[in-house]
Amino acid sequence: METVDLLLAIFHHILVFSLAAVLAAEVVLIRNEMTHRTIGRLAGIDRAYGLVALFVIIIGVARVFYGLKGWEFYVYSWTFWAKMAAFAAVALLSIPPTISFLAWKKQAAADAAFAVPSAELASARGYLRAQMMIFMLIPIFAAAMARGYGQFGY
Ligand code: HEM
Repeated sequence: METVDLLLAIFHHILVFSLAAVLAAEVVLIRNEMTHRTIGRLAGIDRAYGLVALFVIIIGVARVFYGLKGWEFYVYSWTFWAKMAAFAAVALLSIPPTISFLAWKKQAAADAAFAVPSAELASARGYLRAQMMIFMLIPIFAAAMARGYGQFGY
């Protein structure tokens, strides 16, 4: 149905822009000095990141099955799978920083003098930078996929 397709497309766009905004917020926040307030903010934003990502998956899968083109259009296309692989890579790269943010939050709550070890901070920054770079690939694959590039000739 055209209306369903349109609504799913609208939600998909809003969600993926929100996801990019949340990731950008984390990238900016982690450049700051890690005060306990900043750690709390990062942990809060990171929770939103997970939640928005979950909705991106739900709406994305719904687009595959309820979109106008039909699921066959996507599953026989390598650009679709490349987009999924890039999304999965970003998701995997988001795990170590999430673990760090939660550990820092816990330690900051228990110890007023807690300071984030610089090696842990550098590592979390690296993971966020890597996520940002791989994230850029997703809209590239999405645009190619939507136009039928990469479909297996069967
Ligand atoms: C951060 C993650 C994602 C980003 C940035 C993203 C981005 C985009 C963009 C920009 C489009 C529009 C392409 C165009 O019309 O030119 C699109 C379409 C689409 N996306 Fe995503 N997407 C993401 C995740 C997902 C996921 C997880 C799925 C499926 C499981 C998915 C399934 C689709 C489908 C089915 C379309 C419709 C393509 C068409 O019009 O034929 N997306 N996506």
